[in-house]
Amino acid sequence: MILAPSILAADFGRLADEVARAEKGGAGAVHVDVMDGHFAPNLTMGPAVVAAVHRATRLPIDVHLMIENADRFVDAFADAGAGWLSLHVETLPHLQRTVAHVRNRGLRAGVALNPSTPLSALDEILAELDYVLIMSVNPGFSGQSFLPASLDKVRRLRDHIRGRGLRAQIEVDGGVDAGNARALVEAGADILVAGFSVFGKGDTENDVRRLIGACS
Ligand code: DX5
Ligand code: ZN
Repeated sequence: MILAPSILAADFGRLADEVARAEKGGAGAVHVDVMDGHFAPNLTMGPAVVAAVHRATRLPIDVHLMIENADRFVDAFADAGAGWLSLHVETLPHLQRTVAHVRNRGLRAGVALNPSTPLSALDEILAELDYVLIMSVNPGFSGQSFLPASLDKVRRLRDHIRGRGLRAQIEVDGGVDAGNARALVEAGADILVAGFSVFGKGDTENDVRRLIGACS
């Protein structure tokens, strides 16, 4: 299991320090939530923040694009140092082209699904993906409650990926904490994103360590 702390819940005034603490605690990637005020009801970060995080850590940067016209911004995030890039299926009519572009740029490509989007939306693209991001809250804010139906969605996706003999990993994002992390890993999650539960309590290094420990 890889833990990818979401800096959406970090102190932006001390970002490099926050990332360093997460890395020290055992984080395997840094999750960056990009929102545009259209697809997601919040405004957050862009390529300049990805570049700053890239300078602050050797961990891969996991960029989650919750924006319209995401295909226009793939190159900017790749140039800024993104290592993984996830795109929402709900926003992109030419998703196959965008995913191919992400992979041609040498990034790991993921597709994200909102809680109400069925797994069947992945059918024609799953074989081309490095990972699927299952949203376990609706996009917008850190600190929301985990939607319990997500657990079964992860399980069904894991069975589907195995059944088809595919390689896509499963990432779960939203409301992940020490109370649900282990069940998510048992259901098939390979990557867990956590914002509030690691950056929200003032002891990031130990909270990252605790969350990783809760999974084994
Ligand atoms: C939600 C974002 C998340 C989320 C993580 O729109 O994609 O990455 O805020 O934060 P927590 O773990 O606090 O839900
Ligand atoms: Zn996210």
